[in-house]
Amino acid sequence: MSPSTRRRIPLVIIVVLLGVIAAMAYKFIVVGSVAKGDDGRVAVVLEPGERAFVLREMRAFVAGVQRISAVLARDDPKAAAAAARQMGMGAAHDAPPAILAKLPLGFKTMAFAVHRGFDAMALDAESLGDTKHTLSQLADTLGKCVECHNAYEFRTPPSR
Ligand code: HEC
Repeated sequence: MSPSTRRRIPLVIIVVLLGVIAAMAYKFIVVGSVAKGDDGRVAVVLEPGERAFVLREMRAFVAGVQRISAVLARDDPKAAAAAARQMGMGAAHDAPPAILAKLPLGFKTMAFAVHRGFDAMALDAESLGDTKHTLSQLADTLGKCVECHNAYEFRTPPSR
């Protein structure tokens, strides 16, 4: 083996490793674990326990939205702020990395937009105290729930 060939081997290894890392990052950050859904939506494939985790979070969303609308009807922006904050980015950080790796980028983008929407709602409700403004922010955020439900479904892998 000539000295120049020997020098080139580590370079080749580095390039191959970088390629593997880039492919893994693309798979885990951008693509996720997806299949073609039956009704035109994209199916996100999760293990049964992971699907149960995400669905539980979804039910917490409806419960939170219910609380926000109830206190807004009583004109109580402080209570609305407290309820909205519980669904902010703080809640997003509870998601296990194994689940995040299976969610496609478009899904994660919409999910974070919803969490950030609740944080903005909490901040504004506290500083402005304008329930009508909070209600319009709630409508915008619910629009993102609708958008994601139109685009994705959850599915578990076929039993082995
Ligand atoms: C980033 C995507 C996304 C966002 C944002 C999102 N959801 Fe979901 N949600 C889903 C998916 C996917 C399902 C499963 C639907 C299916 O499999 O047909 C689901 C299911 C649900 C369910 C059913 C829970 C169960 O136990 O079956 C509820 C309720 C729900 N979402 C409420 C909400 C509310 C309220 C919001 C907004 C505050 C919201 N979701 C935002 C993706 C999302």
